[in-house]
Amino acid sequence: MTTSNGTIRIAAIADTHLGRTSTAAVQNLFAAVADAADILCICGDLTDTGLPDEGRAFVRELASVKLPTVAVLGNHDHETGHVDELKRVLTDGGIHVLDGDAHEVRGVGFAGIKGFAGGFGRRTLGPWGERAIKDFVQEAINEALKLETALARLKAERRIAVMHYAPIAATVEGEPLEIYAFLGSSRLEEPLSRYPVDAVLHGHAHHGAPEGRTAGGVPVYNVSMSLLTATYPDRPPFRLLELPAPASTATASSSDLGREGTNRGD
Ligand SMILES: [Fe+2]
Ligand SMILES: [Fe+2]
Repeated sequence: MTTSNGTIRIAAIADTHLGRTSTAAVQNLFAAVADAADILCICGDLTDTGLPDEGRAFVRELASVKLPTVAVLGNHDHETGHVDELKRVLTDGGIHVLDGDAHEVRGVGFAGIKGFAGGFGRRTLGPWGERAIKDFVQEAINEALKLETALARLKAERRIAVMHYAPIAATVEGEPLEIYAFLGSSRLEEPLSRYPVDAVLHGHAHHGAPEGRTAGGVPVYNVSMSLLTATYPDRPPFRLLELPAPASTATASSSDLGREGTNRGD
């Protein structure tokens, strides 16, 4: 499906934390998404503690949306150690859960990971010293490798990278400096310099900044629900990416395809 002007619309959300958030807030968000978008992309922390019942509640609320939906899990979805069961609940509910995978929806390719922490730029934590530090750093390296593998599999004309943790510091700005290193890692940005994508979507930094760019100029959007609520109080808390429809799915004339400005966000 494409809109009449030959675009495809992706609604991006994160950090619904269902179980803590009121169901009404999530219902209102989903109703607005259903009206506005062709695809829903969820950037982690769907649930508050990862309990399968929270996942079931999420799926129940999502049933009204009826859009193809992709998601990555967040740290909250891991909290109680039920990741496999939670994934099953979400998958059975029609959500395509990405964890180092690539998935194409309506000509748009999504590569997704949870991601991990470790800090940014020259201050990125290195694998040196105690075993615990090395293991911590290795987790971020493993997530970056998973992203690289997923990106390498993307063959679609339009490509989106999805993660929970932030790949750049710019979309974390606004959080206390002391916790920057726990909100993301530059290691997640490295694969994005080797594989072209139209945009990067993440959550997790609830008090960060809504937009930034990778060193290579790719737009990065922090779509955390509480951040979007605080930044754009007059709108429902999701970001709408409107991309020129891939040629394989477009109904518009060829002159509408492949134009500049592929990443306009609302
Ligand atoms: Fe969160
Ligand atoms: Fe989180």
